Amino acid sequence: MLLRKILSLRLFRLSLRFILPLALALGLFAFAVVPLVDSLTLHWFVKDLDIRSQSLANAMQDPLAEYVPLNARDRILQLFDRAIRDERLYAIAFCDNRGRVVYQTLTYPKALGCREAPPDGRPLPAQVNLAQGSLHVAERTIEGDNGSLGRLILVHDMSFIEHRSAEARLYVLALFGVLTMVISLISVVVAHLSWRGWINAVKGMLRGERTPNAASAGQVDIQPLVGDLHAMLRELNLERRVLVDSPQLWTPDKLRSLLHDELAGDEVLVVSNREPYLHVHSEQGITVHRPASGLVTAVEPVMRACSGTWIAHGSGSADRETVDRQDRVAVPPDKPSYTLRRIWLSKEEEAGYYYGFSNEGLWPLCHIAHVRPVFRSADWEYYVAINRRFAEAVVAEARTDDPVVLVQDYHFALVPRMVRELLPKATIITFWHIPWPNPESFGICPWRAEILEGLLGSTILGFHTPFHCKNFLETVDRYLETRIEHEASTISYGGELTQVASYPISIAWPDSVADSPIDAVTSVAGCRRSVRDQCGLSHQQLVAIGIDRLDYTKGIIERFEAIERMLELHPDMVGRFTLVQIAAPSRSSLEEYQSLETRVRSLAARINERFPAGAQSPILLKIEQFDTSQVNRYYRAADVCLVTSLHDGMNLVAKEFIASRDDELGVLVLSQFTGAARELHEALIVNPYHIEQSADAIYRALVMPAAEQRDRMRSMRVLVRDFNVFRWAGHMLLDAARLRRRERIMTKIRAHSRPYLRRAAAS
Ligand code: F6P
Repeated sequence: MLLRKILSLRLFRLSLRFILPLALALGLFAFAVVPLVDSLTLHWFVKDLDIRSQSLANAMQDPLAEYVPLNARDRILQLFDRAIRDERLYAIAFCDNRGRVVYQTLTYPKALGCREAPPDGRPLPAQVNLAQGSLHVAERTIEGDNGSLGRLILVHDMSFIEHRSAEARLYVLALFGVLTMVISLISVVVAHLSWRGWINAVKGMLRGERTPNAASAGQVDIQPLVGDLHAMLRELNLERRVLVDSPQLWTPDKLRSLLHDELAGDEVLVVSNREPYLHVHSEQGITVHRPASGLVTAVEPVMRACSGTWIAHGSGSADRETVDRQDRVAVPPDKPSYTLRRIWLSKEEEAGYYYGFSNEGLWPLCHIAHVRPVFRSADWEYYVAINRRFAEAVVAEARTDDPVVLVQDYHFALVPRMVRELLPKATIITFWHIPWPNPESFGICPWRAEILEGLLGSTILGFHTPFHCKNFLETVDRYLETRIEHEASTISYGGELTQVASYPISIAWPDSVADSPIDAVTSVAGCRRSVRDQCGLSHQQLVAIGIDRLDYTKGIIERFEAIERMLELHPDMVGRFTLVQIAAPSRSSLEEYQSLETRVRSLAARINERFPAGAQSPILLKIEQFDTSQVNRYYRAADVCLVTSLHDGMNLVAKEFIASRDDELGVLVLSQFTGAARELHEALIVNPYHIEQSADAIYRALVMPAAEQRDRMRSMRVLVRDFNVFRWAGHMLLDAARLRRRERIMTKIRAHSRPYLRRAAAS
């Protein structure tokens, strides 16, 4: 309300700003135009009187030629009197050739006499001002049979011209007045529409919509303001964070005490497809691996802090040999703090549920990276069956009837409803780690209603950005019969409420002492040396890194093309620059991923051939799995980190790179289509589809002065440190605790009111 008032007041002021100068300008114009109109009308009327006088004189020529020689005074005066009945003809006189007034009407002004021409021969003015007023005087010689008989003088009253001229002035002023009003009205309407468009575009941006769309929707370009607005928001967020979170930052301890204080130590269960630790057979016997997964990177530290049970697909080759009889294993292996419960899948189940429905269907559907989604009924049936298996595992693992269940990602869209049916009192927090598309795109899915219904079993449904929340609300609105409260961002379906909110995921800020003790090897200088040695690069080589799963959404092809363009534009970089691309093999049994690998390999080879530089070739492609500490060394060794995803929910590589740079150097080139770009504004933001733009950004990153690198990196480090993954989990759990409290109160109220209702019904 208040905002609306302020806006309308602003609008009024804005309108005045348009109207006042406009009225002033038009007023001045009118002021200049009125005398012009005056003299024009006078000129036209004088001309008109000249013509009238001429025709009158013509009409009188013959009678006067007859009457004057006869000295027929009465007839002549009669003739004159008849003529001056015309209201504009004021007086007539006839002068003889000696210059004497011989005949005249009574109205003829004496002062006019016979209007002798001055000796210099100048013509006498037609307009004269006498005591009678302003008069027009015209003369005409009357010819007789033997030459001139004398001059006829016709005098017209010009007062009517003054009246007309005053009227014309009035019309002109009225016209300008009306014009001012019409133009003002149009200006105010246009200003109002522009203002609304602008406000909508800014609001859209604050809600997290992609700026160009929001801006074009309002037909207003707010692009130049986006950076400033983001900076302002950041400041506001910082202030709010100081108020809300101070004096402590979010830490594992703070999360633990939140669980204890707010959720009364309730148990936490996590459900995800990917497990945090895989046991695999290797030459060294059974070894433990951490998968390349943003989800695992984020959720694992949270589970360390919360304890509880993590239910996931046991996909390691030695997984079955390392679990107990309940398929459980305590992890992390070096310092167990929570339980990993493994679920087994047959090859067919994995093919249908994971490769098929999840990764050939939902993954391309949600990413919109120009790979066509494939939906098969058989895959869907596996998806339903495996979701049920995981939901039943949740019930089996739960020690209470109201656990907090954290359901992770698109592999388990049906689990929330299935768990809700089995454990109605559970608090189910579902987090969707990938983008949520617009309703039209999502509508392609043949089982769209089932998926939406499944997700609406959640107490809280989280996305990375407000934009994805908005897409989800619109999708539900389009395909399900629900009640949506847009202000509160809640959906009521089948009597249950789901809160839809954005929780931008993050990473655990490395504790420099415990996580990565810094010594000569792990120092930035040590990493720079060792990585260059290991890659056969000179110590002066400029190094960019790309660290991704080998996935078509990551924009690896576009990244290589940008490198090629950069080298075309800056040939001096050939032999001085190398991109080390680490691509962890992923979903390799799918054709789309196999063909991507072929394309990535051949493009890298072609570019290296085109710009030969021996060991210092432009692209060093490593298609292999890297463990966390190796990846960290590459982050620290790099001059530039390239994240060029075509679409990405968040992208934690960007945040890991920043967290690793305690030297405050290094430049991040970041795709605008990542959730991370909504937070990391000091990165060089690029559109990966725009190869030239990316090439420019890469070059700019390579030559960026250290002071600028430091400014940017410092600011991003503060953000990643403060907006860490404990805050991500903490905010979801705080919201869950609030909703649980509300539910408990509602249950009590319902229990208390039941007897009264019964009595009321009976009476
Ligand atoms: O982005 C969603 C996600 O689940 C991330 O956690 C992870 O980066 C990736 O997909 C994992 O893929 P997968 O588990 O299929 O290897």
